[in-house]
Amino acid sequence: MTRRYLSGVQPSGLLHLGNYFGAIRSHIANQDNAFYFIANYHALTTLRDAAAMRQNVFDVARTYLALGLDPERAVIWRQSDVPEVQELAWLLATVTGMGLLERAHSYKDKVDNGIVPSVGLFYYPVLMAADILAFDSDVVPVGKDQVQHLEMTRDMAQSFNARYGEVFRMPKTELGVPEPVPGVDGRKMSKSYDNHIPLFPRSKKALKKHVMSIKTDSTPLDEPCDPEGSALLALYRLFADEAQVDALKQKLLGKGFGYGHAKLELLALIEAHFSDAWTRYAELGAHPERVEAVLRAGAAKARPVARAVLNRARAACGLD
Ligand code: ADP
Ligand code: TRP
Repeated sequence: MTRRYLSGVQPSGLLHLGNYFGAIRSHIANQDNAFYFIANYHALTTLRDAAAMRQNVFDVARTYLALGLDPERAVIWRQSDVPEVQELAWLLATVTGMGLLERAHSYKDKVDNGIVPSVGLFYYPVLMAADILAFDSDVVPVGKDQVQHLEMTRDMAQSFNARYGEVFRMPKTELGVPEPVPGVDGRKMSKSYDNHIPLFPRSKKALKKHVMSIKTDSTPLDEPCDPEGSALLALYRLFADEAQVDALKQKLLGKGFGYGHAKLELLALIEAHFSDAWTRYAELGAHPERVEAVLRAGAAKARPVARAVLNRARAACGLD
């Protein structure tokens, strides 16, 4: 039997190249028997505007469809359409030590960045564990910052299984890219740092502005540029094969070809990579009913799976 891939993406606003290479690309590449959901319950910990929430959920759904997710092969749904995960989260919370949650880096980072430390934000890893365990997931492809949440998920599953018997399957983590995708300023690309390159830019002009703002040193045009270690080269590598990377390096090491030229080459690769997806994204924008139908059909497939696992867990702890 094929292993079940499961992952969630928060509808917390704009998606960028870091999200794509860190997570979404591998979701699309592994879509047979896969379960993907839009984590709107999670987003409530930071997004409290109903209209923006609806719009963002729609945008994430059409992102996946535009990038090639086939609803005949993979299941995609809105997290809140499968409320069974909330009940499962409670069962897990009762076997989870406070200390485990107190060690969560993501919680501390978010509070350090000014997010209100609600009980929901603290409880977030428990809900995430329920998301994963409710679907008997085998592999969870995520970015590096989510690795600790996966370790916590396994801890919670083990605590429950140790007390009540083998109820939960143990999931494994899979990293989309070994290192975080850098943003235009060289730090990790993140929507919180204003250093992103959007996956679905408003226009080609807007995309160009982002790409041209990639930070490089100020080597004059008539001197060789050494791009090794730069964000520009790291981003270029995501789209190019070895031969293209070598060719670009040679041009930069010669005279008369500067970073500005290299950025234009990167821009061309980004456009070539995503132009079909951009077209499909715009088409789906004009047909919200198609997107809604996919999400509803997805929830109808996902819900019985979660119900069966929840019933197993309820029976194991005497709630049947
Ligand atoms: P952001 O940092 O922009 O808020 P999220 O935390 O919403 O992004 O991340 C969503 C998914 O994308 C996660 O699996 C995360 O690990 C991955 N991701 C985000 N930024 C990057 C990056 N720069 N490189 C690789 N993966 C990333
Ligand atoms: N916490 C994840 C993020 O911020 C989103 C998420 C919620 C998730 N539930 C999940 C990812 C379950 C994988 C599996 O990116």
